[in-house]
Amino acid sequence: MSKTTVYLHTEFSIGDVDPRIFGGFLEHMGRAVYEGVYQPDSPHADADGWRTDVLDALRGLHMSQVRYPGGNFASGYHWEDGIGPRDSRPTVRELAWQSIEPNSVGTDEFVSLANRMGWEPMLSANLGTGTPEEARNWVEYCNSPEGTLYADKRVANGNREPHDVKLWCLGNEMDGPWQLGHVPAAQYAIRAQQAGKMMKDVDPSIELILCGTSNPLLGTYLEWDREALEYLGGLADYVSLHRYVGIGEESTEDFLAIPNSIDQQIEEVDAACRFVQGKRKSKKRAWLCFDEWNVWYKTMKFGSEHMQGGGRFAPPLIEEVYDLRDALVVSGFLHSFVRHADVLKIANIAQIVNVIAPILTRDDGLLVQSIYWPFAMFAKRRKGVSLATQVRGTRYDSQRYGDTDVIDSSAILDGDTLSVFLTNRGESPARVSLDLADRKFQGGVEAECLTGPDPLAANSWENPSVIVPQGFSAIRLEEGRVEMELPPYSFVAASLALE
Ligand code: AHR
Repeated sequence: MSKTTVYLHTEFSIGDVDPRIFGGFLEHMGRAVYEGVYQPDSPHADADGWRTDVLDALRGLHMSQVRYPGGNFASGYHWEDGIGPRDSRPTVRELAWQSIEPNSVGTDEFVSLANRMGWEPMLSANLGTGTPEEARNWVEYCNSPEGTLYADKRVANGNREPHDVKLWCLGNEMDGPWQLGHVPAAQYAIRAQQAGKMMKDVDPSIELILCGTSNPLLGTYLEWDREALEYLGGLADYVSLHRYVGIGEESTEDFLAIPNSIDQQIEEVDAACRFVQGKRKSKKRAWLCFDEWNVWYKTMKFGSEHMQGGGRFAPPLIEEVYDLRDALVVSGFLHSFVRHADVLKIANIAQIVNVIAPILTRDDGLLVQSIYWPFAMFAKRRKGVSLATQVRGTRYDSQRYGDTDVIDSSAILDGDTLSVFLTNRGESPARVSLDLADRKFQGGVEAECLTGPDPLAANSWENPSVIVPQGFSAIRLEEGRVEMELPPYSFVAASLALE
């Protein structure tokens, strides 16, 4: 059995946890929009065509904001195709995923869905095949009071009040040669500056997310970020990070050590932001927006039917099936985000339904996947201040990711409630003590544990409840410390009352 002590002090705070780090991403891709959230002919659909079973399941994720409409899709999307009466919207050939897009869902539908779900909407402008002016016009459509051309189009479409969309992405993964309209950093920076300036001229209250490097393995990693940030100057409120992780020949322990490299990616991009701030001698810095992240490898086969729609409507693309260890890696992303609450302000799990998602749908129902649970267990305890966790205990050497604590951890303090999040990356049970230096535990505990029969176990349509959290009682108060025993390959979220 491994042994670990996690040391905490309520004054050792990293920063407020921004609720926006528990966000999602809905792309016009595969069956995410159509047959995912929207399916008018489903027995589960409401009068507007939304699938109420899916919305109910999404509510359990407590998401704060959702990014839309892509992703790679955004780089070929003309937002005016998706407004106005449905029967006069064009059906278009969509190139990013080689699919057919009928535009039945567009800006007004997405914003109304977001309002209903309590999500802050986040829109990605098309800086691939679109013009800076088209992006500026979209801001006017969404945010300006009636009385001018695009705002009046919104009013004519039944929305007198502005949508008031605050978060805008200046394109998507523009550093990637796969992106429609990809250009080198210098040209992207010019496009982004032109668009961003006009967008803020229309509505100075919006916040802009500059496209950072889409994958740390790309040769332009950090150079791209630096160059674009320097050119945009004070216009960039955030820079984006993306990361999809998977496992090949490596061991499970290696896979579970990936959060080391998430920490590293966050710290490197943060360094680029600080570098540019220093160079510009500015009071303003760009914050970090991790607007696509997840586990994705089983269906990441370029050119395969998983990633090419073959000219079909709502083809089943990248419908990854997730197992227990994938869920533990998702918990690791979230530990890393909470640990970097001082610089990371926004994050979006990619995606929310069917496409690399916590929820899969069929006509007759939905399946909640393993990765749903760590997100839900964190998100419902997200309010508060991130506390530094000092971990002392058993470690292992990951071939790919270096020296690693068997126990991955993070903590959030909300008044007199301390929520502690712990992942046991080991194949044996783990004894964990919590040592809180300056406050006493009162004894009230509400805890749950996610584990399963083996690391590769997954929920399926036949057995949907293999990986679901259970109440966790192997936790007790001893001489002022909290002592617990975590099962092998498990994730525990515990909320503890303090005196
Ligand atoms: O989330 C799937 C795709 O992954 C997104 O469209 C793109 O931005 C990323 O490469």
